[in-house]
Amino acid sequence: MAPGNMTAYELAAHEWACAHKPFRRGFDIVTKSLDGHHHIEDDVVFPFFATKLDISAWESDHVELTKRINEINAIIAGYTSDPTTYDASAFEALFVSLKDMVIPHLDAEENTVTAKFMEENYDAEKVAQLIPDIVEYNKKHEDPVVVLVFLIMHTAPEDRP
Ligand SMILES: [Fe+2]
Repeated sequence: MAPGNMTAYELAAHEWACAHKPFRRGFDIVTKSLDGHHHIEDDVVFPFFATKLDISAWESDHVELTKRINEINAIIAGYTSDPTTYDASAFEALFVSLKDMVIPHLDAEENTVTAKFMEENYDAEKVAQLIPDIVEYNKKHEDPVVVLVFLIMHTAPEDRP
């Protein structure tokens, strides 16, 4: 029904649902993008660096992060099918637990695989080949609309290549 034909009650309910849609969509995009990013690391990036690094902690982080992402997606699906089950505190705790784990994980990867580390351990041509390998992997495995749009929209201008 078009908003112009709605009662005040229907319009208020409709507007409220519309205000929630960006959050539903945003969480869905964040979790899918993060999951896709981990697949790229697990399948392309980690095997490359595993020749010089013990990446087992990062791999086990990915398993735990995937578990938390799946829990968030499940709880969102539950709230969507039955909004009376919504528990703001539980939802926030779950999302904070994901953030509290993912940010140190990102820091650990970046602080270990530095330009200096790569220069000391790998030929430049092999490191340069990682990006085309990731692009190829993305074409075969990832949803380019979800992941690419997320990355474009959330990359600060100073961080763009
Ligand atoms: Fe990672």
